[in-house]
Amino acid sequence: MRVLAPQIRTASSGDAPGIAHVQVLTWQQTYRGILPDAFLDGLDVERSAESWRAVISDRRRITHVVDGPGIIGFCTAGPSRGDPIGFRGEVEAIYVHPAEQGRGHGTALVRAAMGWLAAKRLSPVLVWALEANTRAHGFYRALGAHRLDTRLLRIADALYPEVGFGWPDGSPTGG
Ligand SMILES: CC(C)(COP(=O)(O)OP(=O)(O)OC[C@H]1O[C@@H](n2cnc3c(N)ncnc32)[C@H](O)[C@@H]1OP(=O)(O)O)[C@@H](O)C(=O)NCCC(=O)NCCS
Repeated sequence: MRVLAPQIRTASSGDAPGIAHVQVLTWQQTYRGILPDAFLDGLDVERSAESWRAVISDRRRITHVVDGPGIIGFCTAGPSRGDPIGFRGEVEAIYVHPAEQGRGHGTALVRAAMGWLAAKRLSPVLVWALEANTRAHGFYRALGAHRLDTRLLRIADALYPEVGFGWPDGSPTGG
């Protein structure tokens, strides 16, 4: 039997349920102890899939998936949604299935996103991570990003500090 290696490709609307599944599972694992249990336990794959259909069909943004076969991870990128000034592109979301983390999929997804952003002249690029998600900070630092700024993000009626990381020259390194 031939075993297919994971491939990175652009998402289509049929990937929405697979992306939602990875997102809900990964949020529940990564943010347990950071965000309220009631919020995490209330995440719903079907509701999330509806939102992902809209994101995937938005031509101003790109969602790449790692297809294993089956969705292993995903990354959405597009124009920067705010401060700091000067960063034109943003990695909006990146999640890899808990059982598949640490195998290089995240690095491959960031590189694919950066390639698309550079082609659209949406560089330099930044990404926001919850202040408490220190593992993600390590991942972005390993790819050459620098800590930029902090802001507060509203989730489930509470405010959580987030840290911005940027690639001022627009290209990830290392990984
Ligand atoms: C963060 C995430 C996307 C990274 O994807 P990944 O496939 O696990 O990462 P990679 O295997 O490509 O790691 C690349 C490099 O980042 C660094 N890195 C990865 N995980 C790290 C960690 N937990 N702590 C410190 N550095 C880390 C390492 O240097 C690694 O290189 P190495 O494998 O040679 O050691 C993934 O782990 C994930 O989904 N985490 C949970 C969700 C999350 O935090 N998403 C980001 C929200 S802002």
